[in-house]
Amino acid sequence: MCGIIGYQGKNSVVPILLDGLKSLEYRGYDSAGIAVCENNKVKIIKAVGKVANLEKKIDKNISSQIGIAHTRWATHGGVCEENAHPHHQGVISLVHNGIIENYVELKNILLKKKYTFKGQTDSEVLCAFIDMLYKENKDMLKTISLMQKEVKGSYALLILNEEEPDKVYATRCNSPLIVSYTDDGIYFASDVPAIIKYTKKYYLLDNNDIVIAHNSIEFYNKNLDKITKKEEVFDKTVEEAQKGEYKHFMLKEINDEPKVIRELLNYYVKDNKFNDNMPYFKKYNKIFIVGCGSAYYTGEIAKNIFEKYVGIPVYCYLASEYRYQKHFYDKNTLVIFISQSGETADTLEALRKTKENGVDALAIVNVYASSIAREADKVLYIKAGVEIAVATTKAFIAQVCLLTFIALKMAGKEELLKYFANLDKEIEKLINLDYKPVAKHFYKSHSAFFIGRGIDYGLCEEGSLKLKEISYINSSAFPAGELKHGTISLIEENTPVVVITSNPDLKPKTISNAKEVKARGAYLLYITNDKEKDKFYNDVIEIRHIHEIVDSIMMVVPLQMLAYHVALLKKLDIDKPRNLAKSVTVE
Ligand code: F6R
Repeated sequence: MCGIIGYQGKNSVVPILLDGLKSLEYRGYDSAGIAVCENNKVKIIKAVGKVANLEKKIDKNISSQIGIAHTRWATHGGVCEENAHPHHQGVISLVHNGIIENYVELKNILLKKKYTFKGQTDSEVLCAFIDMLYKENKDMLKTISLMQKEVKGSYALLILNEEEPDKVYATRCNSPLIVSYTDDGIYFASDVPAIIKYTKKYYLLDNNDIVIAHNSIEFYNKNLDKITKKEEVFDKTVEEAQKGEYKHFMLKEINDEPKVIRELLNYYVKDNKFNDNMPYFKKYNKIFIVGCGSAYYTGEIAKNIFEKYVGIPVYCYLASEYRYQKHFYDKNTLVIFISQSGETADTLEALRKTKENGVDALAIVNVYASSIAREADKVLYIKAGVEIAVATTKAFIAQVCLLTFIALKMAGKEELLKYFANLDKEIEKLINLDYKPVAKHFYKSHSAFFIGRGIDYGLCEEGSLKLKEISYINSSAFPAGELKHGTISLIEENTPVVVITSNPDLKPKTISNAKEVKARGAYLLYITNDKEKDKFYNDVIEIRHIHEIVDSIMMVVPLQMLAYHVALLKKLDIDKPRNLAKSVTVE
């Protein structure tokens, strides 16, 4: 959550910071701010709301060439300028992404030293704590190293010190941070999209690394030994991280799905057989799948494939619950962690717990070298490219595909890979259907329901989350047979209900349940791979039946497009829904 950007170099810093903030806004968007050094003094400008509000407040004549900036997703303290970053205490100004767990303890120490605080954030306390350490040591490297020992929690930090006004200091612990350079200057960012327009080369910082940017980049480890780092190269184009012709990133990313499928097939499959990039997880007789939100639902969908084709039990866990549960795993259990960002705090902690218990952990991740990717025993990448819209779409499809690949490899069913051959084209056709007429039945409703059985229930969960997340309609998913045990009392005249059937064996019963809600006035949108002659529904979206292992993947597309069009009709901020942020790095 929260995006940070910093620069030290030859160019005017304000446009670089504002540009970087705009491209990182998906990481948090309740307030934003910048700090620049001008005439050896730090100047801070902050605004509540979007980066555009901040831009209006900034004097374009600021001539500084060094600065740091932040876009916030509130954790401690409300949304107001006092709590927005950068924070300033004594000679120190900083931007912080993460959570300081022992900030109350630190604050008590600082209050005794007569520090006062304008806001309620843990970050302002951290700023004062660094200032205190600096005043005691008069050495920034030593100060940061001491801070690392005392502070508990997660942080990516960019720090300015008025006594060294030509340097940016940086460090991180469990929050992502990269540093990069061109002939014109040094850039820091929480994520590659913020700097890709200047360069594709970057360094990934490891926990407790310390960086000084002062016309060149110096790296130190926590013992303050000078170190060298491996240069990484971003392997996507600048366009991939931009909206291009599309009105929203979400629409662009749905339109990326055919390409993502092709990339996955190229990477893991050759001549309808898995290549060496696809491991064979032979020894396992039990699988756990762990994730949050949509990532968790990929597990619920894949469970059906694993259990049917591999014939081993699969248990799905929400990462935020998994950590506190008793687990009956052993050396033959594989725990799969699903995460687009690879930084989701609950998933990361669940992974750490699994590793502590000596159980094998596989990560399925999108963001290269993210924390989950780095800490798991093995990582498989979904190759989806940069995903900016807060609501995940292409990563979801890619996660389900990759889980299906793993299952097919374990099951020795490579011959089924042939059914993926035209998946990209089918997805393209589904994207291009007209969703406006059906979306009109949803956008004025206060609630909506999604019903299905088995694998279709997993799809319902995702469809329902997507709708509520971006359209703010209170939507719920139910196993179709469960409605009559309570929920059906919520059905009123015109309540929209999405009915999903992909499995012919489960279809008749689901249709009976659909008719029960129709009889009580519901508007029924039917998504199926086998249209009924009996027109029990109001509208239908038909998926071409290829094979059950790909039919469910195709069904995700109309669910995403429906949510998109409902939010569009409601004129909502589709890419940045209220209260949310991409990459949830708090537990
Ligand atoms: C929903 C959505 C979230 C994420 C969840 C996990 O559209 O995007 O539910 O799926 O926050 O995020 P990652 O996959 O980054 O761990």
